[in-house]
Amino acid sequence: MIARLCCGGVQGVEGFRVDLEVELVRRGLPAFVMVGLAEGAVREARERVLAAVRAGGFRLPPARVTVNFAPADRRKEGSAYDLPLAVGLLCAAELLPEGCAQGWFLAGELSLTGELRAVPGILPLALLARKEGAKGMIVPAANAAEAAAVQGLPVYGMASLGEVAAFLAGARAASPVPFVRPELEHPAYPVDFADVRGQEHAKRAIEIAAAGGHNLLFVGPPGSGKSMLARCIPTVLPPLTFEESLEVTKIYSVAGRLGSHGLILERPFLEQHPTASEIALVGGGAIPRPGAVSLAHRGVLFLDELPEYPRGALEVLRQPLETGEVTISRSAQIVTFPADCMLVAAMNPCPCGYLGDPGHECVCSPAQIRRYQGRISGPLLDRIDMHVTVPAVPYDELQSGRPGTSSAVMRERIAAARAVQRERYRSMPGCRTNADLAGRALSVWCEPDKAGQAFLREAVHNLALSARAYTRILRIARTVADLDGCEHVELRHLAEAVSCRVLDRDRG
Ligand SMILES: Nc1ncnc2c1ncn2[C@@H]1O[C@H](COP(=O)(O)OP(=O)(O)O)[C@@H](O)[C@H]1O
Ligand SMILES: [Mg+2]
Repeated sequence: MIARLCCGGVQGVEGFRVDLEVELVRRGLPAFVMVGLAEGAVREARERVLAAVRAGGFRLPPARVTVNFAPADRRKEGSAYDLPLAVGLLCAAELLPEGCAQGWFLAGELSLTGELRAVPGILPLALLARKEGAKGMIVPAANAAEAAAVQGLPVYGMASLGEVAAFLAGARAASPVPFVRPELEHPAYPVDFADVRGQEHAKRAIEIAAAGGHNLLFVGPPGSGKSMLARCIPTVLPPLTFEESLEVTKIYSVAGRLGSHGLILERPFLEQHPTASEIALVGGGAIPRPGAVSLAHRGVLFLDELPEYPRGALEVLRQPLETGEVTISRSAQIVTFPADCMLVAAMNPCPCGYLGDPGHECVCSPAQIRRYQGRISGPLLDRIDMHVTVPAVPYDELQSGRPGTSSAVMRERIAAARAVQRERYRSMPGCRTNADLAGRALSVWCEPDKAGQAFLREAVHNLALSARAYTRILRIARTVADLDGCEHVELRHLAEAVSCRVLDRDRG
């Protein structure tokens, strides 16, 4: 007897359909054979599934079992195939009524005692199940909240193989986990820009960066508040939309970092340190997993002490910065993860940290300074839209107790500028903010007026700006104009944009 079931695998953050066939023949030597590019944990499924079936009180007859995963040319990895495999086996052995699993989409890992364990990648599988028109999805109870984020798909969370078998056989009733559209409001944060004294110039740069989705580099002496500023950035970003929440949750799901949460509801903020490995930063591994740059998708990735990173790790950041995606290739398999985040980096101007600081003497030699700054390659620096000097705050200002611009005020202005962009780019898929502008759209929306053009020509010449830097300045100027409520990019917008790309130390 042959049982057929529909299940799925995950590549990157997308599910793909897998058709599972289980054939059980009661003649010949007992055996258990799996075909169809089943790898690693799937190969081991046999032991778990047989033990779980026994633990459920089912007695399999001695037989030759053949399991086929189709399509055969796609790698099947992970333990989510345990449950469909066990149910397929029970159907093929006629221990469950014929066709009872028809139309159901199953996923979950089994323990030797038959309990269902949570698996990564449930959200992509649930989206696939809905696309395939499944009549419902059965998942481990710990994954139920995640799967239930998919509207229109009845989701049943179950604790054991026995429970699933009883439900499919009609011997046990269960009700689906209700879909609840989450409230995506602005979260309460423990930090606020009002606590940052002075640094109004840096806050203005952050406002522009957050409004237009631009990347940002802070340069300044130790203790000037670079890390503090970066950690406040999430407080001024708009709340996630439901679609963004699904996108982000898919990434955390395949990374196995969701726990039993349903959806990720807050914009991610990831702080990385130079000691993190390249895989931790951009993703990879034997079974490719997303790295920090993907876990920060639709949020902020903060790289502190930028020059301390191994050069190789920084160079691999170039691709995601340019395309908003990370591509990982591993033996005949290419996996892509979304990685559209706002990069915020911080560095000291020199090894001792006090170059250009009026309060301290810098003790570094010119060669040391050159070597330090040279650790960040020109092409990477070029891809960071805004370069902002963060000087030490004078004592009087620190002591004044005068609150600076608050997060609430900045957030409101940023939300207004984002609304203008949303409206303008409504018919342009893939373009959310000014930072996404490219090609013709860039020249259509960022065309400066006559005075602006003359100013830009001079700036490109005097500051030896690259073509990439030039387009970045145009995008930033567009954002400045949006914050200003102006339809056209004018000279003053360009002037501020240029100042956002030039560090104090590079000036005249
Ligand atoms: N502008 C500022 N306003 C208020 N506190 C500040 C400011 N700058 C620095 N601090 C204080 O100094 C500490 C160290 O700042 P930090 O952000 O770590 O500096 P950096 O990253 O530039 O070395 C902060 O935690 C904060 O308490
Ligand atoms: Mg710091």
